[in-house]
Amino acid sequence: MTGVPAMVLTGVGAHLPAQVVTNDDLSEVMDTSDEWIRTRTGIRERRRAAPGETSLHLAVEASREALKATADGATDVDAVVLATMTPDRRCPATAPDVAAALGLGRVAAFDVAAICSGFVYAAATAQGLIAAGTARRVLVIGTEVMSEVLYPTDRNTAVIFGDGAGAVGVRAGPPDEPGAFGPFDLGADGEDSDLIRVDGGAGRAPLTPGRPVTRDDYLVMDGRAVYRRAIPTMAASSRAALARRGWAVDDVDAVIGHQANVRILDGLCHELGVDTARSVVNIDAVGNTSAASIPIAMAHAHERGAVAAGDKVLLTAFGGGLTWGSTTLTWPDLPIA
Ligand code: ACO
Repeated sequence: MTGVPAMVLTGVGAHLPAQVVTNDDLSEVMDTSDEWIRTRTGIRERRRAAPGETSLHLAVEASREALKATADGATDVDAVVLATMTPDRRCPATAPDVAAALGLGRVAAFDVAAICSGFVYAAATAQGLIAAGTARRVLVIGTEVMSEVLYPTDRNTAVIFGDGAGAVGVRAGPPDEPGAFGPFDLGADGEDSDLIRVDGGAGRAPLTPGRPVTRDDYLVMDGRAVYRRAIPTMAASSRAALARRGWAVDDVDAVIGHQANVRILDGLCHELGVDTARSVVNIDAVGNTSAASIPIAMAHAHERGAVAAGDKVLLTAFGGGLTWGSTTLTWPDLPIA
């Protein structure tokens, strides 16, 4: 292979905790209803991790699926890039624990913090490692136990978020090979960083002995303001990623967007001029799983046959930071795990 290698998809995997939390379950503990949640978000149910089941555990299971499903049978990995806003510990990162649990040896392993855009940022980082020749095979993971940061009775957040992990295997390959990712578009706007935040336990609200737990120790989100930014920003980022790949909107066979709200996914399609039938939707069953959302949607789309070999796929995300990112890939011929 001559020139700069491309990043090629070799496998996808997802893992969800066993406990299902329905909208009716939530209606019993807060002032909400199945009807409101379904019509305003598209969510029917989400998963909740068991006590002691952390981002590490979910990531390891999703990674096993992704490596089991690896199209070329190779499972050696030389870097692990993990996106999460709910790490097992503030220090160290979760990725080295994942690499150790998978028995990958002394490979590079680190976390990326870009909240709901975290997986796209992590994949862009992996592409950079591959293009620079630093790594040839990378495991890219999005994993979240959002229930750890949800205030139990906050209907603004508790109905939306779910727990889960998704992972993809990628390797160096020629840019014209099926599975090759295109260039990324990434962006951030820290002017609106307060719209989605968890202040507790860090510099702005440090832990001090005896400090009581407050509402700001949990996730705070101005959903309406985020909603207004999400559709135009993801549409502009999607157009930028498509232009860099040399694809027209009409070329796109499947849109795998961050599963924040089905109305956002539909609005994005409308804004781009893509038929909503081409939008991959699994938010009904998993809710918003933040950084895990896109790789879980990729794995579910693959399982359901919603993407097929040769399809031109657009990935796009938006979330806390604010951050956003988009890229493209051609779907490879992957075995069903
Ligand atoms: N159940 C019942 N009623 C509710 C609920 C609920 N769970 N939540 C809000 N309401 C009420 C409000 O109080 C309000 O009532 P009012 O009209 O009497 O004041 C009414 O419903 C409408 O509230 P809105 O906040 O305007 O509802 P909206 O249609 O905007 O939906 C939602 C809220 C689902 C949060 C939406 O704004 C959204 O999806 N935002 C985007 C979230 C997102 O994309 N986040 C980014 C990724 S997350 C990350 O990065 C971690």
